[in-house]
Amino acid sequence: MTRHAIVDLPDEAATLALGERLGARLRSGDVLALVGDLGAGKTCLARGVARGLRVADPDAVASPTYLLVVEHDGPLPMIHADAYLPAKLKAFLDDGGAAWLLERGGVVVVEWADKVAALLPERRITVRLAPRSDGRPGRRAEIDGPDELDWLAHV
Ligand SMILES: Nc1ncnc2c1ncn2[C@@H]1O[C@H](COP(=O)(O)OP(=O)(O)OP(=O)(O)O)[C@@H](O)[C@H]1O
Ligand SMILES: [Mg+2]
Repeated sequence: MTRHAIVDLPDEAATLALGERLGARLRSGDVLALVGDLGAGKTCLARGVARGLRVADPDAVASPTYLLVVEHDGPLPMIHADAYLPAKLKAFLDDGGAAWLLERGGVVVVEWADKVAALLPERRITVRLAPRSDGRPGRRAEIDGPDELDWLAHV
């Protein structure tokens, strides 16, 4: 069984706010998998998560496409990874990156997570971002996560 929720995101502020609510709930070792096309709002959601986690400089959260993995300091570090180039991220993880990640004990947020689904732990929260189906501006977030996270159903 998994938790499932759908959240309407009429504008960028709503995406940030959803990220912030998620970030406030995340715990050490949690993995947040972000899925969505170019410009879907993944980085915007990640910035909200950074706010919710109270990292030192949430506005510094940007698409880490060419950096692959960026760590943001906070009470719990946020490790922000980008799998747009999945072979590069895989090489990083194979080359000691996976052990480094575990040792950080933070929260891991992965953009383009669908490209590296096989590398991610089964226990993760997935947020799929897509345009609204009615053609109005904004996005729709579809969230799936482990059953024990009952708060997910009303995030
Ligand atoms: N709910 C929303 N409604 C309308 N626009 C939004 C919404 N959420 C985010 N945006 C806007 O969408 C644009 C793209 O957002 P963002 O950079 O976060 O996407 P992304 O998925 O990370 O893209 P990329 O794959 O290129 O890294 C930004 O201008 C952002 O402000
Ligand atoms: Mg991005």
